[in-house]
Amino acid sequence: MSDSGTPVLETPFTRLVGVRHPLVQTGMGWVAGPRLVSATANAGALGILASATMTVEQLKGAVREVKSRTDAPFGVNLRADAGDARERVRIIIDEGVKVASFALAPSKELIAELKDAGVVVIPSIGAKRHAEKVAAWGADAVIVQGGEGGGHTGDVATTVLLPQVVDAVDIPVVAAGGFHDGRGLVAALAYGAAGVAMGTRFLLTSDSTVPDAVKAKYLEASVKDVTVTTAVDGLPHRMLRSELVQTLERSGRARALAQAVVRAASFKKISGLSWPQMVRDGLAMKHGKSLSWSQVLLAANTPMLLKASMVDGRTDLGVMASGQVAGLIEDLPSCAELVARVMAEAEAALGELHALHTLPTPG
Ligand SMILES: Cc1cc2nc3c(=O)[nH]c(=O)nc-3n(C[C@H](O)[C@H](O)[C@H](O)COP(=O)(O)O)c2cc1C
Repeated sequence: MSDSGTPVLETPFTRLVGVRHPLVQTGMGWVAGPRLVSATANAGALGILASATMTVEQLKGAVREVKSRTDAPFGVNLRADAGDARERVRIIIDEGVKVASFALAPSKELIAELKDAGVVVIPSIGAKRHAEKVAAWGADAVIVQGGEGGGHTGDVATTVLLPQVVDAVDIPVVAAGGFHDGRGLVAALAYGAAGVAMGTRFLLTSDSTVPDAVKAKYLEASVKDVTVTTAVDGLPHRMLRSELVQTLERSGRARALAQAVVRAASFKKISGLSWPQMVRDGLAMKHGKSLSWSQVLLAANTPMLLKASMVDGRTDLGVMASGQVAGLIEDLPSCAELVARVMAEAEAALGELHALHTLPTPG
């Protein structure tokens, strides 16, 4: 038990990172900002800032804001393939951030640079061979995301991928994709994981800055309302089946959209407009109903579509990335309430398992 009465489960992950609970709030673009991350950290779990949707300067400001709100460890998620990845790594090192999380496998050199500076490196992976690769390169742990998970996702379920990865590597494995409660944590631990990482569940907290109208859409959703589509950016992407997704799928727009994005990129070069400016313009024009969907998308790309929902509150227009687990979630606890609840549920589930185990054998 901790001082607050919340049960504590020590695992190789909690020891590695120095958090109280084996729970991670993942780096979700436009969602995992300083407020959510510091609330998670103060609740004793690992919060991860999403930096791919921030400029380098914004990242520095966000890291400092988290540090002003908590003394607990936290992480930063970045894209290893970003042109400015090195600058971002510098910020992580200079600001003393505890954990570097990667959406795509980081290079061996980047892992070494971070580890030399004492940063714990935890890439997210979606396949066994990626886990083996980053483990061989010195990653300290991996987050393995199964197909149930929100955002860009694979097609192997967590229940299959997790034991496969646990058996393949010797570093701590954190399970992601489909988790929202203490039963799930215990199940993951039974598979050999050292903790669980949750995206959708942390998006649906009172500490998350996602607009209420958007949270309401998630809360309303059944498991069947969460779909995987390639219609937005050509990659399998799990999200709520919104008006936008339906329109794109109905009209078979995958190719048109891909072309639209390519055209938008060249338009951006010619016009010198920034993506935010282009999207603002695109959305404004759509509002006046003078543009088709594909024309709006001319002026956008996926992060901007995510922003339209997660920041601007557009439930009609944006991408609402979501795990299937949205269909099971019905409330908006604070991060502190959520973490305490999950740990209490885990303790209860472990107790029930223990009771099963100690039943006298019949006969
Ligand atoms: C709204 C949203 C945005 C996301 N953005 C990112 C991102 O920018 N980078 C990333 O690596 N993963 C991103 N993800 C995936 C999550 O980090 C996480 O792996 C996933 O949500 C776990 O599955 P769950 O939603 O079932 O908990 C996002 C997920 C959601 C729901």
